[in-house]
Amino acid sequence: MLSGPIPRHVAIIMDGNGRWASERRLPRPFGHRAGMKAVREAVEGAIDAGVAVLTLFAFSEENWNRPATEISALMDLLEEYIAKEVAELKGQGVRVHVLGDRTRLTPGGRSAVEQVERETAGGQKLSLNLCISYSSRGEIAHAARLLAEEVLKGTKQLEDIDEEAIRAKLYTAPWGDPDLLIRTSGEQRLSNFLLWQLAYTELYITPVLWPDFNRRTLLEAILDYQRRERRFGKVTAS
Ligand code: FPP
Repeated sequence: MLSGPIPRHVAIIMDGNGRWASERRLPRPFGHRAGMKAVREAVEGAIDAGVAVLTLFAFSEENWNRPATEISALMDLLEEYIAKEVAELKGQGVRVHVLGDRTRLTPGGRSAVEQVERETAGGQKLSLNLCISYSSRGEIAHAARLLAEEVLKGTKQLEDIDEEAIRAKLYTAPWGDPDLLIRTSGEQRLSNFLLWQLAYTELYITPVLWPDFNRRTLLEAILDYQRRERRFGKVTAS
């Protein structure tokens, strides 16, 4: 079925949990809980399709401004997800990394994150990056600070600060840029996600709300990607 090129790196803005819950007259955390099942679908679908890297936007720095009850429900869910899935992820050959400012997590959240990274470190099939307490502008500012420190120390010269030097300091440095970005729930914006990395990424926006996302939705996105012509700013050879 998937005979064309497979995107090596897929990134997803998982959106619409709140709307999914309101449509059912349920409190928002029910939508997040249903969204956890969709995360499993995305991971399994990515493995089946042969995707190598899956980067999910789970919690933004801006999300810290949500009501305390919703934040704590989301953090509990993250810990629950890790506790429930770590063995399965390990068995599937998934290696998990958490990207973002983890100093803002609770001690319990931080240790769950460290545990899943440690226990899945041998995974070879799929790299699963969970962006938590993540903001792209924050990531770029962090990279700038690291480079400034090296210049001040004298280990780097000013002339060495180029695109490659910045790229190498981003949280995503080991995995390269996404080939395909999926956003659910129909919103047409990037919401401070991977702004540097998405420069030439193909965008796929679906009206499906995140809790309804499944392997089929992922497959449809990949099939759509296969019909795109990627030019990276150049012209097509004729
Ligand atoms: C956006 O929907 C979704 C989030 C802020 C949280 C995403 C979390 C999950 C999918 C569940 C847990 C994930 C992991 C990795 C354990 P929204 O609340 O902004 O929805 P709305 O736009 O309809 O209000």
